[in-house]
Amino acid sequence: MAILITGGTGFIGSHTCISLTEAGYDVVIVDNYYNSSPKSLARICELCGKDLKFYECDIRDKAGLQRVFTENKIDAVIHFAGLKAVGESCQKPLEYYDNNVNGTLCLCDVMRQNGCKNIVFSSSATVYGMHNVSPLKETMPTGGTTNPYGTTKYMIEIILQDIAKADPAWNVTLLRYFNPIGAHKSGRIGENPNGIPNNLMPYITQVAIGKLPELSVYGDDYDTPDGTGVRDYIHVVDLAEGHVKALDQMLTGNKGVQIFNLGTGVGYSVLDIIHAFEEANGVKIPYKIVGRRPGDIATCYSDPTKAREVLGWETKRGLREMCEDSWRWQSMNPNGF
Ligand code: NAD
Ligand code: UD1
Repeated sequence: MAILITGGTGFIGSHTCISLTEAGYDVVIVDNYYNSSPKSLARICELCGKDLKFYECDIRDKAGLQRVFTENKIDAVIHFAGLKAVGESCQKPLEYYDNNVNGTLCLCDVMRQNGCKNIVFSSSATVYGMHNVSPLKETMPTGGTTNPYGTTKYMIEIILQDIAKADPAWNVTLLRYFNPIGAHKSGRIGENPNGIPNNLMPYITQVAIGKLPELSVYGDDYDTPDGTGVRDYIHVVDLAEGHVKALDQMLTGNKGVQIFNLGTGVGYSVLDIIHAFEEANGVKIPYKIVGRRPGDIATCYSDPTKAREVLGWETKRGLREMCEDSWRWQSMNPNGF
C-alpha cells in the first residue's frame, strides 16, 4: 500500500513520512523543493532507515504527476504541498491561488484519471475565521478568512467536498491543524523558515540562538488572562501521528467527507510560551510588547473531541517537550538544513 505525500520534504510532511513509515506504510514523496531541500529528504531517509521514493515535481505539472502514478500503485494521497505565509499571500495573491488551489485541482484530476480517490488534506484553523468562539468545533461555520492564504484553505475545503458529493467513491479527510511546533526528537529535522520567521516558536528559537535580538510580542491588551494572544500549540509529531490515524480510518471502507480538528484543546498565551521555553531550556528570551499584528485574533484553540472519539487519536506531548524539541532542532542546526 503506497501513500503519496505531496510536500513531503516540508516541516509537517517530513515528520509524517517518518510516522507513516513506522506504521508500515510505503511512502512516495512529491515536492518541488520550493520551501525545502534535498537535505531534508536525506534526513528523512536516515530517520526512516531506508530510501524513500522521491520525485522532484510541481503538483501543477500534470505530466510529472502522471509519471508518479504510472510508476507506483498509489492508494491514497496526503496533500501538504502549498504556500503558507500569511503576509506574503497578501502581496502575491495570484501565486497563492495558483499554487494552492490550481495545484490541488491538478492533483485531484490526475488522481481521478488513475482511479485513486482517497485524499487527506492539510487545512487550518484559519478556516474558522474571526468570529467563532473557542473551543472551535468542526460543526462551526467556516469562511470569513482575512487573507489569501486562509482563503485558499477555505476554497480547497469546498472544492474537495464538491468532488466527493459528485462522486461518492471519493474519500476526503480535511484536517484542520492548530499551531504546530516542536521537532523530531533526534534534532535532525524541524521547521526551517526562509528569512525572518513570521510564526512565534521559530522566532523564539532564533532569538535564543542569537540570530535575532529580541521577540516582539504583538499586543498585551487582548481579552485573555495576561492580555497576549492565546493559541493551541501542538507537537508536530503528535500532528504527524494524527495523519496516520486519519489514513488508517479512511482506508477501512468508504467514509465520504470527514473533518477533524488536530489540536490539543489547550490554549497558551505568548507569555506562557516564552516562560515555558525559558524554563525548559535554561535560556533567556528578551522581549518587548508592541502593537497588535493586523488580522490576529485574541484566542484560538480546538475542541479535539471528534478526533479522539472517531480516530482514537490524542496528543501525548506537552508544552515542555514542544519547547525542548524546538530548541534541540535549532541549536543542533543553527542555520537550518
Ligand atoms: P512547508 O512549507 O514546510 O512544506 C510545504 C512543502 O510543499 C514544501 O516542502 C514545499 O517545497 C512544497 N511545495 C509547495 N508548493 C509546491 C508545489 N506546487 N508542488 C510541489 N511541492 C510544493 O509547510 P508545512 O508547515 O509543512 O505545511 C504543510 C501544509 O500544512 C501546508 O499546506 C500548510 O498550509 C498547512 N498548514 C501548516 C500550518 C503550520 O503552521 N505550519 C498550519 C496549518 C496548515
Ligand atoms: C498564523 C497564521 C495562520 C497560520 C498559522 C500557521 C496569521 C494571522 N495567522 O497563525 O493563518 O495557519 O500562522 O502558519 O498570521 N506572535 C508574537 N510575536 C511574533 C510572532 C507571533 O507575539 O513574532 C504571537 C501572535 O500574535 C499570536 C501567537 O504569537 O498571538 C502565535 O502566532 P503565529 O505563530 O504567527 O500563529 P497564528 O497567528 O496563530
